[in-house]
Amino acid sequence: MTAPKKLFIKTYGCQMNVYDSERMAEALGGQGYTEAKSADEADMILLNTCHIREKAAEKVYSELGRFKKLKAAKPDLKIGVAGCVAQAEGQEIMRRQPLVDLVVGPQSYHRLPEMEEKAQTGEKVLDTDFPEEDKFEQLKRRPKAKRGPTAFLTVQEGCDKFCAFCVVPYTRGAEVSRPADRILTEARDLVERGVREITLLGQNVNAYHGAGANGDLTLAQLIWELDKVDGLERIRFTTSHPNDMMDDLIEAHGTCKKLMPYLHLPVQAGSDKILKRMNRSHTAESYLRLLERIRAARPDILISGDFIVGFPEETEEDFQATLDLVEEVKYGTAYSFKYSTRPGTPAAERPQVDPAEADDRLQRLQALLTRQQREIQDSMVGREVGVLFEKPGRQAGQMLGKSDYLHAVHVANCDRQAGDLARVRIVSSRTNSLAGELID
Ligand code: 5AD
Ligand code: SF4
Repeated sequence: MTAPKKLFIKTYGCQMNVYDSERMAEALGGQGYTEAKSADEADMILLNTCHIREKAAEKVYSELGRFKKLKAAKPDLKIGVAGCVAQAEGQEIMRRQPLVDLVVGPQSYHRLPEMEEKAQTGEKVLDTDFPEEDKFEQLKRRPKAKRGPTAFLTVQEGCDKFCAFCVVPYTRGAEVSRPADRILTEARDLVERGVREITLLGQNVNAYHGAGANGDLTLAQLIWELDKVDGLERIRFTTSHPNDMMDDLIEAHGTCKKLMPYLHLPVQAGSDKILKRMNRSHTAESYLRLLERIRAARPDILISGDFIVGFPEETEEDFQATLDLVEEVKYGTAYSFKYSTRPGTPAAERPQVDPAEADDRLQRLQALLTRQQREIQDSMVGREVGVLFEKPGRQAGQMLGKSDYLHAVHVANCDRQAGDLARVRIVSSRTNSLAGELID
């Protein structure tokens, strides 16, 4: 029996990394690790990294630099790097930062226990393979630990789209969907442990085509299977590509009660010239027509998006087309980024936009998106929404939860528990949240 040890995982980037960090904690739980509250008390530190933008990778190096003191004070401390930076720059990390003991790519997390054992003997371990075995099956779950009311569940990984700016097809590899029965088993297990809302995750989640009993299932068919799981109240999914928004999925937004009225559908840009150069294979017009169909199925759906400004060769006129598209769509939430050159991707070789100009465009876009977001949030005042309570608020008697539209909602004098769903009337809108009162 191994002695109890403490593990600290710091997670960067996307929700898939949040899910992966949970799985890594479970895999190392079998090695005697329990959760450390901070890096200071840890026997092992894992950075679960994101490679999508340059700054994210640089952050990893500066964070590692900060661990030098900790390692000097505790020579047995093991430091590992996981995630997409590990996948892309594993050798480079080992070379540049000698205090790293272990580098593990996103496809190899199930091998962490063996890797940890090797690292304990003083060996440096690196695994950035794309192994044949199913990492999801190999990752041991801790027996029936209680969970909070919401959970992520990865159903699909990797991407075959090759957008010209993106490293994902290189770091996460080709698109792979998990078989439906495994997802359903995992979902039932989560529900038994207290989960009421599941967000299905994938880099291209709506391209899901996992094996079912009678052939492959689409994402909509998987959602309908999950709809039958007793005790599961809410289903969400993210992130989707406009070209994979199939008819049955659009229809499910109108007919499946458990599927929440929220859709993250990145467009990236509003200029057809730029979209073409991004290799997005949709136009601004086809995106707008698609949204019309989705809104016809579910008129109140809240739309969220991703944007990149300053993509190579973007002119002021191209940028204006992005602003025009945003004006037309009206986004409830959005994530916008300045283009960041990723070595090895097609756009890296192209003429770059002046960084000051790109900064200015980002500010203008964010000002517009923030205004829209606030208007949509304010328009919730007076409406009745479903709220799933997640935890007590800061004030006594207050509970905090999320609305169907994913807005944070506080309810004062609330007699409900985490995991309860209630109808709530929204009474006011603050900067980043809504306040409401129970209806029944
Ligand atoms: N530069 C800036 N943003 C990027 N994204 C992906 N790659 C880059 C890049 N090289 C953004 C896209 C994507 C989101 C996850 O990150 O908007 O949808
Ligand atoms: Fe990257 Fe494009 Fe795939 Fe999204 S769809 S993961 S942006 S290549």
